[in-house]
Amino acid sequence: MERTLAIIKPDAVKRGFVGGILVEIQSAGLSVCGLRMIRLAKEQAEAFYEVHQARPFYASLCAYMSSGPVVVMVLEGEGAIARWRDLMGATDPAKAAAGTIRKKFGVDVEQNAAHGSDAPETASREIPFFFRTLDIV
Ligand code: RTP
Ligand code: MG
Repeated sequence: MERTLAIIKPDAVKRGFVGGILVEIQSAGLSVCGLRMIRLAKEQAEAFYEVHQARPFYASLCAYMSSGPVVVMVLEGEGAIARWRDLMGATDPAKAAAGTIRKKFGVDVEQNAAHGSDAPETASREIPFFFRTLDIV
């Protein structure tokens, strides 16, 4: 069993896609074992995305991620990290495969509907960023 951190990003929350994305997750056989809606402060978004500090899109990404509520989740299943990444599709919705969440629900390369941890070490940092052990069922 593996766990990954998933976020439904502000664009998707605002446009009413939380339910649709949860259906995709559950249809794919991933379990939701933690879920909360929060609004990130800009400083919290900056801390979460600190690996991208040197990237040209960092400031814009942090402003966007703190622009409205997000849904943070812990997903569990065999190979959950790769499976959730596959389900999300490519970073840019325009390049994402048909049927993926970013293709269906994303707006552009920044407002791309969802986040997923990209490796076990990343998940180990990202899950406790949002969830205490006691908040994961
Ligand atoms: P994520 O971390 O959110 O799951 O997305 P990812 O691995 O597919 O993409 P990553 O390279 O980690 O980028 C993190 C997020 O930054 C925004 N982004 N904007 N303007 C741009 O060129 C650009 N590139 C990336 C996206 O919101 C991306 O998901
Ligand atoms: Mg990433």
